[in-house]
Amino acid sequence: CKKNLCLASVLVVEADIKAYTQVGQLFVYELQRETFQSDFEPFLKHYGHVYDDPMVFKCNKQHFPDLPRWLRYTQRHPLDNGFLYGTPLEEDQGKAVIEITVINKRSYDTFRERLVITVGTPGKKLPYQAEFYLPLREIEKVLPSAVREEIKQDIQRMWGAARIDVDVVNISSALDKGGRVPLPLPGHYEGVYVKMGSQQYYSDCLLRLLSPQHQQECEAVGRASGDCSVCVNPSNCMAWCNATLIDLSKPVPPVPAPTHGSGILESGGFYDPPESPPSRDYFLDYIGMVIIPFVLALILCILLAYVMCCRREGVVKRDAKTPDIQLYHHHTIQGNTDELRSMAGGRGVPRPLSTLPMFNGRTGERMPPLQRQLRSDSSHIPLIMAQHDPNTDTLPR
Ligand SMILES: *[C@@H]1O[C@H](CO)[C@@H](O)[C@H](O)[C@H]1NC(C)=O
Ligand SMILES: *[C@@H]1O[C@H](CO)[C@@H](O)[C@H](O)[C@H]1NC(C)=O
Repeated sequence: CKKNLCLASVLVVEADIKAYTQVGQLFVYELQRETFQSDFEPFLKHYGHVYDDPMVFKCNKQHFPDLPRWLRYTQRHPLDNGFLYGTPLEEDQGKAVIEITVINKRSYDTFRERLVITVGTPGKKLPYQAEFYLPLREIEKVLPSAVREEIKQDIQRMWGAARIDVDVVNISSALDKGGRVPLPLPGHYEGVYVKMGSQQYYSDCLLRLLSPQHQQECEAVGRASGDCSVCVNPSNCMAWCNATLIDLSKPVPPVPAPTHGSGILESGGFYDPPESPPSRDYFLDYIGMVIIPFVLALILCILLAYVMCCRREGVVKRDAKTPDIQLYHHHTIQGNTDELRSMAGGRGVPRPLSTLPMFNGRTGERMPPLQRQLRSDSSHIPLIMAQHDPNTDTLPR
């Protein structure tokens, strides 16, 4: 290959983070904010100024939207480190290229890293396995190697394996196994399952888990008397009743293959159809569900029609002799009109003095009769009489 190209590819490869693990072994990679911080501000360190930025990570297999099936990612808070963890199986052997997008939550800078995980051939077989439930832990608190070592030493003591190592096979949050999200209160934890494996057979202590007495007590009381669990750190104490032994040393019997028939139904015989159920009388149901509601609806309908048509307010017939209320109204209006008309006809009568416009209330004086006479022709009365001197006898022409 050309020189430049080789150099470029070497540089690219060098930029990747590399990791190695084996089939059946727990893989943990901690995404440390501290190291990514210097990638965001590579020169700030020289001035002695280092931020502690909140960061989140997005991880996916290269060219794929999600992580490989065996790998999981967790981060509790942007101010905590993230973890990639999981146990690869036989079919996961080979290289897995993980893209890690780092997002700085202070500056919103992002950059991408590549993590190349090489999954090697299966390591030593761990036929004797056991799973323990740590109720006082959260997955992020167990994944750091120091805590894993603590737990491993506790279990090694229970296993009685001084010479042969006990290895962590799998760690998973109880939430992944159908556990419930705890209350957000101190003293409430999600719980973590830790699966350990060893080449050495179980100790007497662990074999107590198999005794029928243990199961009875756990079912009845939720606590077993044969509890021989060890925990140096109280947070790592396990729930003895939830511990299980998984013995993989015995070969798993293969599932019996289903027996195939000839594919042809046997001829002959007589097909006896199943008897139909006895017929049922639905008459009562019919009356109850159709006829009675129908009759009730009909009665209500008639009642409503009667109320609406014959008993409407204002149409009530009081008596045969008295007219309708509407007619009565009509008559009163007519009568009132007649009355007004006759009153209008009697306008010639002299009006009361006080209603006359030129009557002087103090002196009792009034206008000359001629003026008054003229004024009785109301259509010629000027609207504003004050313009004319009331004391002159001259008339406005
Ligand atoms: C590890 O635990 C997870 C979650 O319970 C499970 O899905 C996975 O199959 C386990 N892996 C192994 C190798 O046991
Ligand atoms: C632990 O074991 C008890 C009793 O065997 C059971 O009722 C409980 O559901 C188990 N808890 C978990 C988280 O597995």
